[in-house]
Amino acid sequence: MDKPIVTNRALHADALAGLRLSVKRMHPKWFYDSAGSQIFEQITELPEYYPTRTEISILRSEIDTLASFVPEGAALIELGSGASTKTHILLGALKKLGVYVPVDVSGEFLLSVADDLARDYPALTVAPLVGDFLKDLALPAATDGLPKIAFFPGSTIGNLEPSEARDLLRRVRDWPGIAGFILGVDLVKAPDTLVRAYDDSSGVTAAFNKNLLHRMNREIGADFRAENFAHEARWNADKSRIEMHLVSQKAQRVWIGQDSIAFADGESIHTENSHKYTRAAVEDLAAKAGWRVAEFLADPQHHFAVTVLV
Ligand code: SAH
Ligand code: TRP
Repeated sequence: MDKPIVTNRALHADALAGLRLSVKRMHPKWFYDSAGSQIFEQITELPEYYPTRTEISILRSEIDTLASFVPEGAALIELGSGASTKTHILLGALKKLGVYVPVDVSGEFLLSVADDLARDYPALTVAPLVGDFLKDLALPAATDGLPKIAFFPGSTIGNLEPSEARDLLRRVRDWPGIAGFILGVDLVKAPDTLVRAYDDSSGVTAAFNKNLLHRMNREIGADFRAENFAHEARWNADKSRIEMHLVSQKAQRVWIGQDSIAFADGESIHTENSHKYTRAAVEDLAAKAGWRVAEFLADPQHHFAVTVLV
């Protein structure tokens, strides 16, 4: 039986637009289908990937400080919640939380995680929101009239362009009843530590990057051969960011439905950035969006910081 070739029109339009640019790029939100979300969970457990365990240790050791910013009966709204692993630390300590709203583009994954959470915390209202945090979010009615705390861990803010990050902080600033923003940021450090975190020896991050190619094959009738592309992580010092690329290993032509895209040998698709911050850069970003940094909670090595904006 014939299967429809293009099952995801938004991905199709975005892929053609991005791959026809003179410097080819794809938007990182396309990494996250259910396969991508599962590979991402493996990244968080890699020995080279220090951010997850470092952020978890800060959340645990500073939980009382964090809890002091959360009003009784508040709604906790988590952006890019994924597996909600870090949320358990907060939920365990915030006994009087009213509502938890996990927000993610990876819809199926989000809804199954939300089901599990509702079972684990029967007294809590869990109101998942499948949506794009780069756009205006229609917060669930369960949050109406409640004080709100935003939670954005994982240094996902680093995956946004600085202007996108500022706009997101401004939009959250305008939520009715917003009382604070708990924001995780990865900090500038030695480039080799950074590159290894995004190019691990077991190839999990490479598989995550290449899932984008497999996803285009699955959902928009493309014929990428993943073995003809190499995963690369580069430190861009000028822009203070790790860049992830998929580099064409030869001159080749790839079909996407009726359209074709030519790749030169060595030409790359720029798939993601992970911006690294300093304390001054966080303060600057916050100020531009109407926030003040009330807490900057870093680990002893200063690899990662959990910040509280008010
Ligand atoms: N918070 C988790 C997961 C971080 S990975 C942690 O700290 O480990 C980033 C998450 O953001 C993924 O679950 C991804 O699906 C989601 N995401 C990425 N871009 C998004 C967007 N534009 N809107 C909503 N969710 C997004
Ligand atoms: N935001 C995290 C980071 O930049 C997690 C992440 C997003 C990530 N995309 C990634 C990690 C790709 C590794 C590879 O570190």
